[in-house]
Amino acid sequence: MVAFPTKRVVLFASGSGSNVENIVRYFRDRPNVTIAAVLTNKRDAKVLERCDTLNISALYFNKTAFSQTDCVLEVLKGLDPDLIVLAGFLLKVPQRLIRNFPDKIINIHPALLPKYGGKGMYGSHVHRAVKQNCEKETGISIHFVNENYDEGAIIHQAKTALSPEDSVASIAQKVHQLEYEHFPKVIEQLLARQ
Ligand code: GRF
Repeated sequence: MVAFPTKRVVLFASGSGSNVENIVRYFRDRPNVTIAAVLTNKRDAKVLERCDTLNISALYFNKTAFSQTDCVLEVLKGLDPDLIVLAGFLLKVPQRLIRNFPDKIINIHPALLPKYGGKGMYGSHVHRAVKQNCEKETGISIHFVNENYDEGAIIHQAKTALSPEDSVASIAQKVHQLEYEHFPKVIEQLLARQ
């Protein structure tokens, strides 16, 4: 366990939330990190069920509240996070959030940026493009969030080898394994450095 004073993390997710669950479970054994809440823009996202099971506070907001008002900013100020983690979150983060939390918002992308990034490149779209281009490897990129999709400074990347037999589903599975292994540790290292 890395030693540092107690830190607070807020997670954002739009879908299944398997990374959210993995991060929450990782920090259960590390009392110096509190998962303050999970925020989602999808009312029916599976991540909400996971939060129920994990006993984690979850909040829903719609796209208008996120993109055009200060609602989410005010909620975040109240939660007082040391780090904001996008774990499968699909909306573009507005300037007002980026400005208020400089160098405190990170994202995970399921490919080796700068390849396969940008608008529309998420989930299976990424893995399908990787497969179509017969890539010999893929991986994950954990990066700071700036005003452009997938363009903030890269914090950490990890790779996995691919073979021609890999399907879109098996590529997704390999990438998820990398995410589960690396994402919580990178979060912990960033918190330790603050
Ligand atoms: C992950 O592959 C992540 O890299 C991407 O969205 C996916 C989310 O998966 N940004 P899950 O919802 O955590 O299962």
